[in-house]
Amino acid sequence: MVKIDKLLASCLSEIEKCDSLKKIESIKNVIFGKNGKITQVMDELRRLDKEGKRKLGAEINFVKDEITRHLDLKHSKLQSREINKRLESEFVDVSAPARPRSFGKIHPLTKVAEEIENILSYYGFVCADGPDLENEYYNFTALNMPDHHPARTMHDTFYINVPSGEKGRYLLRTHTSPIQIHSMLANTPPYRFFSIGRVYRSDSDATHTPMFTQVEGLVVEKNVGFAHLKWIITNFLKKFFAVKDLSIRLRPSFFPFTEPSAEVDLNYEIKNGEIVFGRGDKWLEICGGGVVHPNVLRHGNVNPDKYQGIAFGFGVERLTSLKYGVPDLRGYFESDERWRNAFGFHHVF
Ligand code: PHE
Repeated sequence: MVKIDKLLASCLSEIEKCDSLKKIESIKNVIFGKNGKITQVMDELRRLDKEGKRKLGAEINFVKDEITRHLDLKHSKLQSREINKRLESEFVDVSAPARPRSFGKIHPLTKVAEEIENILSYYGFVCADGPDLENEYYNFTALNMPDHHPARTMHDTFYINVPSGEKGRYLLRTHTSPIQIHSMLANTPPYRFFSIGRVYRSDSDATHTPMFTQVEGLVVEKNVGFAHLKWIITNFLKKFFAVKDLSIRLRPSFFPFTEPSAEVDLNYEIKNGEIVFGRGDKWLEICGGGVVHPNVLRHGNVNPDKYQGIAFGFGVERLTSLKYGVPDLRGYFESDERWRNAFGFHHVF
């Protein structure tokens, strides 16, 4: 009995000392293995008589149960310690900011297109689209510029050398105004649409590129007029240039598709070498617009006795250059990485 007590005590102290899951396996072997401590005691059983066998057998069973219980306890203790250790070392901070990675930069026109979209959506305008390859009907005729209208020659049009369609010749759109017609034909008023798109004119110098970007706005509602046009342009510019007070100047102008028409100048001054918008004694042409001509409404299936329209168009490169100080128009389309690094915007996650 003394011997078996000692055996239990020595096994338990070994289990107590054990500090890893791997060691537990070898301890199990030392105790219960082929030449293990318990196995040796079991051998002694064979030499005993019936009574002795019963007594020692019961003791051995008790010791075995006790050892197994301690082994299990130790095993689960070590296991949870190891799991906690792993959790600590493999901890992932899901709230940590992403590592900055270089994806190149966002083109300033993309950035500004997004800004324009945000502002016009705020005023209830919905994005509309149209094809770059247009038919002259939508680019000119439906916009109140019939064949041989002198305004057609002002647009320096790229005609496309493909057979004419039912509605006339094909060309690269010279402005985004044909989208007015597509939008009117596809919808029932009242509505407010805007489009941002590339337009093409055969013209190239420091202030003109054969391709540039326009934003077009169209409102067709009951009783909408020139005052609304002034209001929306003023508020658009206030938001775009982030200034509280801003004055614009409307100069009478001519577009075949609007009557009356105006060119819009933006007020600015130069202060400490910086351009300040909305005040001062300098003016910069920034937009064209007017009240949509009844003929244009008719071409869009809108009854001019019921509805009126206002429309406006901005040059997106000009807006961008003014806001972000981009000097030369040509850089926008040259895909020069140095230019993009200088004027582009970082991605924001
Ligand atoms: N489409 C005109 C241009 O390209 C601008 C404009 C748009 C004028 C809408 C009036 C109304 O010059």
